[in-house]
Order: sequence, then C-alpha cells, then structure tokens
Amino acid sequence: MKKEDLMAVIEGRIAQCQMCPLGLLRKNTVPGEGNLYSPILFVGEGPGEEEDNQGRPFVGKAGQLLTKILESVNIAREDVYIANMVKCRPPNNRVPTSLEIQSCSQYLLAQIEVINPRMIVPLGSTALNFFLGEDQQITKVRGREFIWKGNIIIFPMFHPSYLLRNPSKEKGSPKDLTWQDIKKVRKYYDDFMHGDTQK
Ligand code: URA
Ligand code: URA
Repeated sequence: MKKEDLMAVIEGRIAQCQMCPLGLLRKNTVPGEGNLYSPILFVGEGPGEEEDNQGRPFVGKAGQLLTKILESVNIAREDVYIANMVKCRPPNNRVPTSLEIQSCSQYLLAQIEVINPRMIVPLGSTALNFFLGEDQQITKVRGREFIWKGNIIIFPMFHPSYLLRNPSKEKGSPKDLTWQDIKKVRKYYDDFMHGDTQK
C-alpha cells in the first residue's frame, strides 16, 4: 500500500477512537498533517482549542509561532510532518495523563512506521519523555542528538508555548536557544535530502 493509503487507514482509526476519556470531549480528532516523505517529524503534546475546532495540528497561537520558527529557516509546514502525542484535546489544555499517552501512542507509532523519518523532533517535555524516558529534562537535552530504536535521531526542542511564556530574545534565552536549534534542524534537513548518512 502507498503511504497515503496507510496514513488514511490510521486517520480513520483515530477518527473512531474511544480508547481513552478524551474521545468523549473532542470536537475533532487531530491526527497530524504534512509531508509523508519528510525525513523529519515534529511531535507536540496535544491539540488545543483551535486545533480541536479545526482538526489540524499547531494552528493556534503556539502553532503560528512554530510555523514562524520553521519559516525562519525556509522550511514550510508542508515540507515536514507535524503530529502530537495525543490526537484529542485534553480539557483546558491540561497535560495528557500517562494513560492517555499510552493508549494513544499506538497511533503515533503507526504514523512513524509509515513516515519512516530519519529524525524526530519532540517539542517540549511530554513528547521528550515519551521518546527518551521520564527522567529527561527538556532544558538539559534540547539541541542534543539521541538515537531511538537503533536508527532514528531524536533532537528535542522547546515547545512553542514555552517560548510564548518566555519572550526574551537575550543570549541564552529559550528563544535564542531555539533559534540555534532550528538552524541545526535545517542542516540535518539538507543533509537528509542530499542523501548523506551522517550529520
Ligand atoms: N500544542 C501542541 O502541543 N500541539 C498542537 O497541535 C497545538 C498546540
Ligand atoms: N517545559 C515544557 O513542558 N516544555 C518546554 O519546552 C519547556 C519547559
């Protein structure tokens, strides 16, 4: 089957899902969107209000900032794939529970199999802790490279909501560090597109 068809099957399962309590509260499921052939997959936490309304990831305030961060290095949203740990909005944007993350992770793992990315960028703690374990701290590991499941690079970055709460652009601020990180993502992207096997 083609990637498009495989992803459509996953999206269909998500649209029907009642595996956790978030299924009762959603307006729309938010499976994710973007280029199924992208070497890079971005993973956030979960849909907010605007995402729930539209059924699309990262379209609210934080999403607009993520779009700007990508565009600052000439990456369009459509060039990469953007998904979340959970596909339904947690009430009042609370952090998803470990049960919600566990039951929903089957969908993300299936999406990763279809996309087969070279690199995953966890945005913020929730995605970071899923990929690299509960003891990891985003402030310590962002901008560093880890290997997951033998061959996928994990490159954590701050969540854009965190940047909205910390608007300083001073040297060493979260925004300044994110600027450095996204420039590295751009380099990885170019290397992946040109078929290099190393960074
Ligand atoms: N925050 C997230 O983590 N994901 C979204 O899709 C939007 C905001
Ligand atoms: N805490 C988070 O959850 N995410 C960040 O990006 C930074 C701090």
